[in-house]
Amino acid sequence: MSPIERDKRAAAAAAANLVEAGMRVGLGTGTTIAPLMPALAARGLKLRCFASSPATEQAARAAGLAVEPFEGREPLDIAIDGADQIAPDGWLIKGGGRAHTREKIVAAAAERFVVIASGDKLVERLQPPVPLELTAFGVQATLRRLATARLRGGPVSPDGGVIADWVGPVDDPSTLDTWLSTTPGVVEHGLFPRALVSDLVVARNDAVEHYSLSDRRRWI
Ligand code: A5P
Repeated sequence: MSPIERDKRAAAAAAANLVEAGMRVGLGTGTTIAPLMPALAARGLKLRCFASSPATEQAARAAGLAVEPFEGREPLDIAIDGADQIAPDGWLIKGGGRAHTREKIVAAAAERFVVIASGDKLVERLQPPVPLELTAFGVQATLRRLATARLRGGPVSPDGGVIADWVGPVDDPSTLDTWLSTTPGVVEHGLFPRALVSDLVVARNDAVEHYSLSDRRRWI
């Protein structure tokens, strides 16, 4: 196993220990979250799990977790997910695995959103690409309006959205967040504001560090 794989596994195992019996748990998508499912199942707790993608749903069920369709009538107690990039101020880029729309809905529905990562995900500054999900209707008009975005190709999202990437600058995530969110045809984008994140669990150099909202400045 590579050092990064080991770190992902360690971060996932630490996050699994934050989950308590009876919790409603949102599950993210990706390779960092993959070891979370067996780690959670191994704890033998009675949980209600909600998946952010068909791949996660399948993996969670295979691990023996009870997965329900996500409607969101009640808040989730906790959601746990990976990230592509984590900036020192807590802004994230997600969606390398195309699941950012559902991931953001799940994260926003949770009382506690825990981001888990190997150390290579910590960056000094966010860099493009920022994943986008666009409506298929009028997709070329949306791309023309965005100007610095390109289609990624490959399958549509589970909700029928076309996956693209913003490739312009990400100098001011807050302004870009607003611009992308207010552009007609953009279903969702992969910039996750720092206000969404409750905890960061990062594993690097064979050690796990856990930062909560209040001390996130120490991520730097
Ligand atoms: C899925 O679309 C993504 O947001 C993932 O959560 C993110 O890309 C992290 O993926 P890995 O854990 O595979 O690096």
